[in-house]
This record gives sequence, structure tokens and C-alpha cells, in this order.
Amino acid sequence: MLNMIETLNVALGDRSYPIHIGTGVITQVELILPYIKQKKVVVVTNTTVAPLYLEVLRSTLESGGISVLPVVLPDGEQFKTWETLNLIFDALLSARCERGTTLIALGGGVIGDMGGFAAACYQRGMPFIQVPTTLLSQVDSSVGGKTAINHPLGKNMIGAFYQPKLVLADITTLNTLPERELKAGLAEVIKYGLIRDVEFYVWLEANLENLLARDPSALTYAIHRSCANKAEVVVADEKETGERALLNLGHTFGHAIETGMGYGDWLHGEAIAAGTLIAAELSRQLGWLDEKTVKRIEHIFVRAGLPVFGPRLGAARYLELMSHDKKVQDGKLRLVLLQEIGRAIVSDQASDAQISAAIEARCT
Ligand code: NAD
Ligand code: GLY
Repeated sequence: MLNMIETLNVALGDRSYPIHIGTGVITQVELILPYIKQKKVVVVTNTTVAPLYLEVLRSTLESGGISVLPVVLPDGEQFKTWETLNLIFDALLSARCERGTTLIALGGGVIGDMGGFAAACYQRGMPFIQVPTTLLSQVDSSVGGKTAINHPLGKNMIGAFYQPKLVLADITTLNTLPERELKAGLAEVIKYGLIRDVEFYVWLEANLENLLARDPSALTYAIHRSCANKAEVVVADEKETGERALLNLGHTFGHAIETGMGYGDWLHGEAIAAGTLIAAELSRQLGWLDEKTVKRIEHIFVRAGLPVFGPRLGAARYLELMSHDKKVQDGKLRLVLLQEIGRAIVSDQASDAQISAAIEARCT
């Protein structure tokens, strides 16, 4: 197939970086070589992705005279922990990696978040490249510099803002992605339409089947448009003091589902889908969305094969879990809610009773 590559720039001054999206980008040594300053790199990946893509990436790097130290971690959200992070540090120290050694994260959002956090911490910061291999990581987690591990009391609670030097999103890697993971990634794609890009939302309504069929041009367009939206938000508010919080539509409820059910039971994208419907229901109760719009939102998630009801943990348990949310200010919960499709706000207007009613209405 002809290589189609699209490039975006995340404009953060002297920390700006390109995102290359397309077929075969991990085979093109000239895209990666300028970002590597030493003859050895560390590739952090996992037991699922390594047999699929480690050798491809290794041979690309070796063709440029770069040798690879692989660090292969166990696979799963339940391993996004201090213990697993330490395995990365053990490998970096044992191999005498230096501050100038580049760490490449090859995998989905779990590997990207952990690899990025390790890179932020090791010798107070080493160069870092994201090679995302899931739809979710290509449209969201590899861009913007949020890195983290989970804590038993809360998702992504321990972490750092640390931008990569480069993002290589190779859409051919999506061919091996399990169906359920592809659908989970669509939750974050739909999110951009809902929070700030109604035109994209309408495009998604028209093209969802093409995305589910992994049509390369539909995927490239959706990844490009998602990353363009994300890059604009990150450039405007890198450290999330304002607008960036909108990227968390459905996440306060979704993180409660992930933590409450035990990490790895619900996929992140599945929890975000159900969480988005709770946020939409609450927006309806506050008088911002009408019933028809909530149904329209439900319909796109149903078509994407995603859950539109959360698990019945009980509203009190949700509220307890949500009290750890990173958007809590002075003990007050702030939620991302919808005023219409394409327009989200951060609001502390909903009372606990209203939030509980929305949870009860959208959990089965
Ligand atoms: P994941 O990293 O767990 O990957 C999903 C599964 O697919 C894993 O089993 C993985 O090994 C496998 N996999 C990866 N690439 C594959 C491929 N090409 N072919 C076959 N299998 C493949 O999950 P995810 O959905 O990519 O990421 C979710 C994580 O991302 C969560 O921890 C979430 O908190 C985080 N996240 C972070 C940000 C951010 O801004 N940093 C944003 C959104 C989500
Ligand atoms: N995924 C939310 C953010 O990057 O801010």
C-alpha cells in the first residue's frame, strides 16, 4: 500500500513536537533518527505488543545504526503500578542508561503513560518518544504529555506532565487490535466531537461503520482530526488550569467505574462511554440538553458497540470514588458537562442529589 503520512505539530515553543500519522511510519528511519542523540535506545513495551511490533521497530532503528534495549512489561491496566514502573528503572540502571538515552514507549495508553512517567523521573528527565499502537493511544494518550500510574484509591493519581519529543502513530498496527479495543478507542474519538467539534461529530455519525471496518483513510482522518483537537487544547492549556479539563468529559464517572470495578475489568474507553452518558443525563437534568440530544449521543455510542449504562455500584460509592478526582477544588467536585453537542463546560453547579439521580438513571 502507498505510504500516506500526515503530520501535525504540537506547538509548545522549544518543546514543540511532530505527530506523524499514517501507514508504515514505524518503518521510516528518517522520521525517528533526528530525535535520537545516542547510539542506544530503550524500548518499553509489553508481552502482547513485543511479538507484534518490537522487531519492526528494532530493524528500523538498527538500519540507522541505533541498538535497542527492550523492556517487556506484563500487559494490563492492573500492572500500571509502582511495582511495574520499578521494572523500567531496574532495566535503565542495569544497562547504565544515561540522561541523554531516549526511551521509546511502544504500545497502548498503559505503556505510554508508564513509559512517559519513567522518562520524566529517570535522572530527572530523559528524552521520550511515543509509538502508540491502539486507537485510543493514537487519538489521545500519546499526545499532550500526561503520564501516570494508578493508585488503589484512584486512577492516574501519581504522575507528571512530560511531553514527548515525537509521536509516531502507525495505523497499520491497528490491524491486529482486538475488536473490543478498537471500540474502546472510539469513545475518545467521539469525545472530541462532543466537547468542541460538532462538524467532526456529524462526520463520525456518517462514518462510524468505516471506522469499525478499519478503513485506512477513515482512520487516518479520525486520528488526525482528534489529534488536531487535542493539540489545540494542550497548546492553550498544557497543565490543565482551564480548558484542558474539557478533555475529561465522562472521565470523572469513568475513572470511578474503573477504580470501583478493579482496574482492567472495564476498559478505559468503555468506562468513558458509560461516564459520558451519565454526564449527558446530568446535563439534561440541569436543563442544558433535551431528551432527543441525549438519545442522539446514546445512539452513536451504541453503534460503536460501547456500553451506555454504568455498573450499579450505588450512587454513594460513585460519589466516594469521585471525591478523589483531580478536578476537585476546595473539596468541591467539578464536572465536565454538555451544553450542546460540540460545547462542553466545567461546572460545579450540580448538587450531590442531582449527581446521584443521574448516576441511578444511567446505571444498571
Ligand atoms: P492498553 O494500553 O491497555 O492497550 C489495550 C490492549 O491492546 C492491551 O492488551 C495491549 O497490550 C493491546 N495492544 C496494544 N496495541 C496492540 C496492537 N496493535 N495489536 C494488538 N494488541 C494491542 O489500553 P489503551 O486503551 O491503549 O489505553 C488506556 C490507558 O490510557 C489507560 O490507562 C488510560 O488511563 C490511559 N489514558 C491516558 C491518557 C493521557 O492523556 N495520558 C488519555 C487517555 C487514556
Ligand atoms: N486525556 C485527557 C488529557 O490529556 O488531558
